[in-house]
Amino acid sequence: MSEAPLLSIIVPTYNERENLPVLVDRIDKALGGKYSYEIIVVDDNSPDKTWEVALELARKGYPIVLVKRPGKLGLGTAVLDGVRKARGKYIVVMDADLQHPPEVLPKLLEAALSTGADIVVASRYTKGGGVEGWSTIRKIISKGATLIAKLLLPQARLTTDPMSGFFLFKREIISGVELNPLGYKILLEILVKAKYNKVVDIPYTFNRRLRGESKLGAGEMWRYIKHVLRLSEYRPIKFAIVGASGVLVNEGVLYLALNSGVNPMVSGLIAIEASILSNFTLNDLWTFRSRRTGSFLWRMLKYHLSVALGAIIMYATYAGLISLLGFNPYLAMLVGIILGFIANYLFSETIVWR
Ligand code: GDD
Ligand code: MN
Repeated sequence: MSEAPLLSIIVPTYNERENLPVLVDRIDKALGGKYSYEIIVVDDNSPDKTWEVALELARKGYPIVLVKRPGKLGLGTAVLDGVRKARGKYIVVMDADLQHPPEVLPKLLEAALSTGADIVVASRYTKGGGVEGWSTIRKIISKGATLIAKLLLPQARLTTDPMSGFFLFKREIISGVELNPLGYKILLEILVKAKYNKVVDIPYTFNRRLRGESKLGAGEMWRYIKHVLRLSEYRPIKFAIVGASGVLVNEGVLYLALNSGVNPMVSGLIAIEASILSNFTLNDLWTFRSRRTGSFLWRMLKYHLSVALGAIIMYATYAGLISLLGFNPYLAMLVGIILGFIANYLFSETIVWR
């Protein structure tokens, strides 16, 4: 086997026989002579025999390694199987259909070499990047998916395009890391699980497909949500369960306080504080267990600050509804909880995570 190249380019293919020769030729023009590279084509036994074209190109002298799998096993595992074969110091993942222009490859590599970045993302959403020929609805879905990732996964905030299928990374950052191919968003997996320091973005325009059609259907969207939830260790679901338990604690403590003869205005305060404390404790022990920093008391104080606005609105609603409108206290508290929740949400959206 020849000396290991600087760059391994992973290209998953399924029915791309018309695109592959153009891709390989443009890659060679972009890199050839300047940087050593290998192209690892991972083909899932394409009905159009893309793998035959790959072998033909290899015979012509292009540095191509073919990984042929028995059938359509999915984009995620295709990328990972390619990564396993890669020998380069750097690895790039890109599509075969020329939506990822090969001319960006030297820019990705040079960004890594000059900045020492461990991951370089070809981004549609940084200044100078973009998409070509997308409908408004496709743009919204893509932006929405990006937002979900950034909201739930702090590591996804390190780049402007965590959903990108076009990126470079140092091979060493995934050694010993178990990557899970549930979704095809391998960049997200790497951002969450790999051991790295620096991420850099390079703008590019996601082109129209040259030939053929997209192989990613609606099922991928659902798989994506499951993927992100799993990477986030199901925090949003846990948080919602804790929130629901807080409603019960709040109303339960309100019941106990009112029935021990405590004045309703004071009972409301006690009930709200009890639910804040129980929500905090459960989130600390369960939802955010793996993300705890600082002391317990400091986290508790920060939690109080973050829910303060909601709590004030909750209490004001509760007190107002019973004293001014003669509401039943449990119902008044429930309305307060709903308004407080909305306030917390808007507060987070517009101030905390603006
Ligand atoms: N081996 C293999 N097996 N390759 C596959 C499979 C599969 O099951 N499914 C798709 N591919 C290959 C395609 O042949 C193509 O080279 C590449 O993976 C991307 O597939 P497309 O079908 O062209 O995907 P897309 O254009 O809808 O999505 C692309 O853009 C998204 C950004 O909006 C991908 O790059 C996504 O990763 C990216 O997030
Ligand atoms: Mn495509």
